[in-house]
Amino acid sequence: MKKSIYKSIYNTIESLFNSSPPLSFQAKMSLTASVLAYQFKNWIFCGFYVSISDRNLEIGPYQGKILPCTNIKYGAGVCGTSAMKKETIIVKDVYEYANYISCDSDTKSEIVVPIFNEEELIAVLDIDSNKRNDFDKIDKENLEKISTLFFKRDQK
Ligand code: SME
Repeated sequence: MKKSIYKSIYNTIESLFNSSPPLSFQAKMSLTASVLAYQFKNWIFCGFYVSISDRNLEIGPYQGKILPCTNIKYGAGVCGTSAMKKETIIVKDVYEYANYISCDSDTKSEIVVPIFNEEELIAVLDIDSNKRNDFDKIDKENLEKISTLFFKRDQK
């Protein structure tokens, strides 16, 4: 079920990204946040934090409520840790993650996936769920696959 939803999400995003004229990274993030936000009923935040100067992340395009967390330093919270370690992080229960930045008390679990251009970290994709333990290796594999579409070389 989840796998087939991801297959459809991947195809939708791939086809949107192949539009002509070529889309900016900003446009791709906006479209992806919108595509992802309406697929799984427990997801309450879907969006991006973009790497800016001096190892800081700044809020990018997202779908969800207005949040207080607009800037996150590398190493802080789940997003900053993912950016610093350059790896996907799944938090099954946000109450048990010591280095957690709470932006919405409804969030119970979270996944953060880094986006690279070659080796360079450009942004992180952050998804919050109102259900505990909502993310697993299927989400990790599929979101990482989607993350490779942003700077794919063979796009038009
Ligand atoms: N919880 C995140 C902060 C961003 S919000 O979830 C949108 C974190 O710990 O980095």
